[in-house]
Amino acid sequence: MARFIIKNSPPLKGSVKISGSKNAVLPILAASLLAEGKCIIREVPCQSDVETMLKLLERLGADLQWDKDAGIIHTSASSRLRTEAEYELVSKMRASFLVMGPLLARLGEVNVPLPGGCAIGARPVDLHLKGFCALGAEVVQEHGNVSAKAKRLKGARIYLDFPSVGATENIMMAAVLADGVTVLENCAVEPEIVDLANFLNSAGAEVRGAGTDTIKIIGVKSISKADHSVIPDRIEAGTFMVAAGVTKGDITVTNVVADHLKPLIAKLKEVNLNVEETEAGLRVYYKEGRRLIATDVKTLPYPGFPTDMQAQFMSLLILAEGTSIVTETVFENRFMHVGEFKRMGADIKIESRSAIIEGVKKLMGAQVKATDLRAGAALALAALTASGTTELSDIYHIDRGYCNLAEKLSQLGAMIHREEDFSEKNC
Ligand code: EPZ
Repeated sequence: MARFIIKNSPPLKGSVKISGSKNAVLPILAASLLAEGKCIIREVPCQSDVETMLKLLERLGADLQWDKDAGIIHTSASSRLRTEAEYELVSKMRASFLVMGPLLARLGEVNVPLPGGCAIGARPVDLHLKGFCALGAEVVQEHGNVSAKAKRLKGARIYLDFPSVGATENIMMAAVLADGVTVLENCAVEPEIVDLANFLNSAGAEVRGAGTDTIKIIGVKSISKADHSVIPDRIEAGTFMVAAGVTKGDITVTNVVADHLKPLIAKLKEVNLNVEETEAGLRVYYKEGRRLIATDVKTLPYPGFPTDMQAQFMSLLILAEGTSIVTETVFENRFMHVGEFKRMGADIKIESRSAIIEGVKKLMGAQVKATDLRAGAALALAALTASGTTELSDIYHIDRGYCNLAEKLSQLGAMIHREEDFSEKNC
């Protein structure tokens, strides 16, 4: 098992190019199953979740080539596709469930294992299944699998009880080949939804209103091919912007869409950091003599403060002067990083869905574990400013959603290196 060894580092300085968005490329790869022609997907980040999705698509019968250096994937789903997605891959990555909508639309039947919960919550898929039923599919759940069948899906008006990102994406993809018009209400409005709609429309779909809470999909007979560049990863960008604050440095993130980062920019300014839009991108820097000050954060669906930035922002607040309250409203168990921060000397109390943080002057290096993707990144940031050395294990979580995190941090001056295959000391 690999781990990061992180030492107390000087303020991080310099610029870093942000990779393509994990949460855009995964649904777009699933959507490529809908296309009868060849698709080219560009700005693909080198992450293990992308590898897992490619493996799944290959097992389903798609042909794929991934030029990792160029960040380009060529896909072709013209040959006979399989209707079964394998448990081993779906259980590894929840986003695998996004192949359900495309396969149901393309083949008229699909069988996918129910994705398990994970560290951050139960993460049910009831809204996805409600959407497929509304489109006329017969959905059966048994023995941990979900199967769905429909000769031809029929357009419907569907109201989502919660603006679920995955449910919006899965139902949108299923509706692309349905007979008639589908109207999806109270749907997610994240930038990744817009990117998926743009990919689908460039292949010949008719998706209107993505980015608003009502999306209209006019069913078409088929979609053909697309050549699409994935949007930058707003969460990776936010992670490096927070790194500038945690280390009292000066970082410019390039290849970003500032509009996707508004809630984070507002919060970074609230804690007394400077954020400027420059020619190159977004610059975040700490003004000497000014202190980081406490603030409150509540995670919400977009355009609210992103839940995927909650742990990283907490690595700032544990060092900010005063009391901060972080409320996690999207997932029911997304404070697993709190226990690890406390091992480093942070002062945090959890009360129901809120973490009450008393800022401390200094953190101490310690042995800590990444409990999920974003928690892992947050702990790496905190370790950069902690005294002494931190050993961060279970970093396979981080590899799922960050492309070369340690290398990018090192280029900014971080004292971090990766150690492969260390044997965990028995406690
Ligand atoms: C996507 O997950 C992202 N993953 C997550 O990013 C992100 O945290 C999340 O959206 C929220 O923004 C990808 O895009 C691959 P949801 P998803 O459906 O689609 C409940 C990361 O770190 N819900 O919007 O699974 C659910 O339990 C990852 O990059 C239902 O109740 O999120 C949760 O409480 C983590 N029933 C809430 O909605 C359903 O059918 C949000 O889930 C579906 C969801």
